[in-house]
Amino acid sequence: MDEQKKQLVLGIESSCDETGVALVQSQGSGVPALLAHALHSQIEMHQAYGGVVPELASRDHIRRVLPLTSAVLAEAGRSLAEVDVVAYTRGPGLAGALLVGAGVACALGMALGKPVLGVHHLEGHLLSPFLSADPPEFPFVALLVSGGHTQLMRVDGVGRYELLGETIDDAAGEAFDKSAKLMGLGYPGGPALSRLAQQGDPAAFKLPRPLLHSGNLDFSFAGLKTAVLTQARKLGDELEARKADLAASTQAAIVEVLVKKSLTALQETGLQRIVVAGGVGANRQLREQLDAACAKRRVRVHYPELHLCTDNGAMIALAAAMRLQAGQQQAIFDYAFDVKPRWPLNAIQGA
Ligand code: KG4
Ligand code: ZN
Repeated sequence: MDEQKKQLVLGIESSCDETGVALVQSQGSGVPALLAHALHSQIEMHQAYGGVVPELASRDHIRRVLPLTSAVLAEAGRSLAEVDVVAYTRGPGLAGALLVGAGVACALGMALGKPVLGVHHLEGHLLSPFLSADPPEFPFVALLVSGGHTQLMRVDGVGRYELLGETIDDAAGEAFDKSAKLMGLGYPGGPALSRLAQQGDPAAFKLPRPLLHSGNLDFSFAGLKTAVLTQARKLGDELEARKADLAASTQAAIVEVLVKKSLTALQETGLQRIVVAGGVGANRQLREQLDAACAKRRVRVHYPELHLCTDNGAMIALAAAMRLQAGQQQAIFDYAFDVKPRWPLNAIQGA
């Protein structure tokens, strides 16, 4: 039991375009401690193509993962032999990219005679605010907003996730990215669009708020991108001069829907706490508006540290350590790994 109490967990994230490695120490009870983490973002490499090229992503993960592992161990002052469990992102994500992390984790596990644990990427995002200075307490509503997912969940504990609503087409991050691309802002568009939006008028253009009054907690963002395209075409030569206004209007539409649906989820569940996770959780406008709306309703809002909003290894090591601590899952000595490019979060319910 004592062994289980203080486990050193190495976590590897390679589901998309960042290679992340981290080391956490589980504490028995309480939040596991992050000892060190390292990240390599492939953004620059994919920029030339306007989006992630899966084959290039996989190859780059191969190049980065072991040097990052060495760096993390050195920073934490630990040796590979001290690692108790090797965790990796098992899905969802790009198959080839996931296979790199899974393959390396299982090879390390086998060589060290240590067990491995496949982690759900979204569970990593969901639990990442536990590494912040202001960690949440269960239960809470979670707004998961990334490049691939937009979901509202009810979270009652580690492994106890109930899907309340999700996007029926594009994710919120995709809406940011695709709109940004239409405006020639490059990849990834979210941060670029939100930077430009600071100089624009959010009320300049009337853009649709998809499913705002649908009466349920589902989202739809595909129509927004089309509306942005139509508006950009209408502007023609004027687009360049009005780009900041269009960016601000686009951001306002996305943020309004996210905030409104989050408030509805809080109301429907009767919960007084919300956690925002995933890359779009870094968006300033979203944070400001959600904070303001929640302050009025005496709802606590928790975010991951800004640098842990987007993909990273820390959240994967953390999720593994929290699952082990909660007795939700055991690390295994079976190294015949597989990955799950498509993997709904509610499929990993704990006991
Ligand atoms: O969680 P993440 O790193 O990767 C996925 O699991 O998808 O999220 C990446 C997404 C991208 O769509 C990116 O444009 C968006 O998060 N993003 C932002 C901001 N920072 C990242 N969107 C809006 N505003 C931001 N500041
Ligand atoms: Zn992610």
